[in-house]
Amino acid sequence: MKVTLAKADAVTAKADLLAVPVFAGTELGPGAEEAVAALGAPVAPLLEARGFTGKTGEVAALPTLGRLEATVLLLVGVGERAKVDAEVLRRAAAAVVRQGRGARKAATTLPQALPADPAGAVQAVAEGALLAAYRFDKYKQAKAGANGSKPPAELATLVLHPGPAAGRAGGLAGALAAGQVRATATNLARDLSNEPANALHPADLAAAARKLLAGKGVTVKVKDEKALAAEGFGGIVGVGQGAEHPPRLIELRYAPKGATGEVVLVGKGITFDSGGLSLKPPDSMKTMKTDMSGAAAVLATMSVLADLEVKVPVTGYLASAENMPSGRATRPGDVLTMKNGKTVEVLNTDAEGRLVMADALALGAASKPAAIIDVATLTGACVVALGNRYTGLMANDEALAAELLDAAAEAGEPTWRLPLPPEYRKDIESDLADLKNVGDRYGGALFAGLFLQEFVDDRPWAHLDIAGPARSESDDGYLSKGSTGVTVRTLLTWLERRSTAR
Ligand code: BES
Ligand code: MN
Ligand code: ZN
Repeated sequence: MKVTLAKADAVTAKADLLAVPVFAGTELGPGAEEAVAALGAPVAPLLEARGFTGKTGEVAALPTLGRLEATVLLLVGVGERAKVDAEVLRRAAAAVVRQGRGARKAATTLPQALPADPAGAVQAVAEGALLAAYRFDKYKQAKAGANGSKPPAELATLVLHPGPAAGRAGGLAGALAAGQVRATATNLARDLSNEPANALHPADLAAAARKLLAGKGVTVKVKDEKALAAEGFGGIVGVGQGAEHPPRLIELRYAPKGATGEVVLVGKGITFDSGGLSLKPPDSMKTMKTDMSGAAAVLATMSVLADLEVKVPVTGYLASAENMPSGRATRPGDVLTMKNGKTVEVLNTDAEGRLVMADALALGAASKPAAIIDVATLTGACVVALGNRYTGLMANDEALAAELLDAAAEAGEPTWRLPLPPEYRKDIESDLADLKNVGDRYGGALFAGLFLQEFVDDRPWAHLDIAGPARSESDDGYLSKGSTGVTVRTLLTWLERRSTAR
């Protein structure tokens, strides 16, 4: 789908569908008034009959019967006028795209529902629309039979009508580009993460990084299993040694000229998590190809830093392994020596994420960066605590935590802080080694966080547990069923703010 900007009047726009905002209480928004007037018939009774009240995401499609250029007038709920923000517009745009399936060209006045910030409105509508248009259908045949058939073709073009006032505001082309770039990056993370595990092994992730980051101002270096063993990455080697497909540590570097204050991003890249010898039950394994969503998010974020002219040096580490059982696999009770020299007794091979992340965090911390952020589908316990939509944030630094919560709110990626209780630290002490890789049965997300904290060398650090929101079980707003690409937009917002703040 293409999103473009128009200067002309929306009501006379040549399109198959015209989408206009309606506020709560069916108060007609910008463009809606004129469009309904052109229909020449009252719409209130019809809307009432359909139960349309103007709540965000509600839609009502009305046939225009030749009274308008567009065949369909789509009324889109945006809620209370005073509460319209970027997230409302992203969700409303998603509703237009989903409703517009089958149409070729749609025009919309949605950005005008937020007149206080025309650029932000254009960015949000473009972002929400392109996120909602996402589909992962590369494994479906074009002419498959009934069960395998593709859904109707997506909208080809969405034309944004920001209104006459916005024309004077300027910067709209840049805002449109920013929305497009942020959605493209998110959709890239979704693509990588939706890829089945038999098509994306750790070496494939490395190859994908090389290919996708070529010409993007990011250099890629890869450590293979031999280098990892020789250089003391006991966690990554230990997790990866059961698999036929060996592990990789992928280093990504973005270094804009003259910029200081290095940021390190670490992503969990378990291309498949069977649990290892502590084997998962079959149902829990079904979605474990997505256990590399953290790595996908870091890769995708870094792929657009140059486009967004981010002025912060960013180093990314993708800690990638396949967690499989075999005669060579790490056993419960084995001891691993990690990159920073700490020893870990592995009591559950299914707590593998923290092992690969620990090595990458230790390496990242060694360069004494200004901040470290890790992203990982780390614990089922975080899903128990926060449900499927919320990212769990743990941090050893108040300012960094506050910045990230703020960026996440702005990006529309719900995030909630969890503690790193010092009282619980004793529960990850091992009789045999420095640490063990599991804590108490309850509060599992916190033990994982406390474990990771042992490897950041007291640098300012935040941990994002995305075990819940990495996937969506349905098409929901601008999320599409499957991988969500969560944290890409939060990280981009945070990095953009950081590059202007200093
Ligand atoms: N990849 C899983 C966590 C996960 C669970 C992600 C559900 C997405 C959805 C992780 O490696 C894992 O298996 N964690 C264990 C840790 C436990 C053994 C301490 C868990 O959460 O059960
Ligand atoms: Mn696991
Ligand atoms: Zn895992």
